[in-house]
Amino acid sequence: MKKFRIAIFASGNGTNAERFFTHFRGHPQIEVVLLLCNKANAFVLERARNANIKTEVFDKAQFVSGEVLKILEENSVTHVVLAGFLWLVPGHITAAFPNRVINIHPALLPKFGGKGMYGSKVHEAVKDSGDKETGITIHLVNEQYDEGKVIFQTRTNVDEGDSPEDIAAKVHALEYEHYPKVVENWILKAESTRG
Ligand code: GAR
Repeated sequence: MKKFRIAIFASGNGTNAERFFTHFRGHPQIEVVLLLCNKANAFVLERARNANIKTEVFDKAQFVSGEVLKILEENSVTHVVLAGFLWLVPGHITAAFPNRVINIHPALLPKFGGKGMYGSKVHEAVKDSGDKETGITIHLVNEQYDEGKVIFQTRTNVDEGDSPEDIAAKVHALEYEHYPKVVENWILKAESTRG
């Protein structure tokens, strides 16, 4: 069994989750052991099955009652990664994984964050704002939407004629380039500075 065991939570397409499956395949210390999803028909489940990653589908009651935490514990999960996950994570899960629940947001927080700000809604809001740049934010998860400590941000230009879809494509490219690597560094750095 490898030392660090990641569970990924995702709700939809799962292109970021798939980058994690690929990035950590064959890694000496870190492996993705589980994909948890709150939607039974989400395409991310198919991506996980194709990558031979174990999947679990859960509902809100299981999430808030502690059943999902039990699944994490049974699988000896050490870190939780949110990759396009829609629900607020309950406090008993963030408490069980201090500094070990990580999210990506497809904009430069604190702008364009909070409840309901998800995927294309974020890019539409960026377009409507007239901002000349956007980017990604990778942050620790606490009990508020999009408010935990920021680990990493990087930017991209929003050009005059960019549609929300164009913005999404630029942001996704940044996500793929950075998210698995930033999580890898976060896990290994925390380990090297402990005790
Ligand atoms: C990603 O862009 C991620 O940053 C965003 O959802 C997308 C999921 O795409 N997350 C949020 O908006 C969280 N508030 P994917 O399913 O193809 O990885």
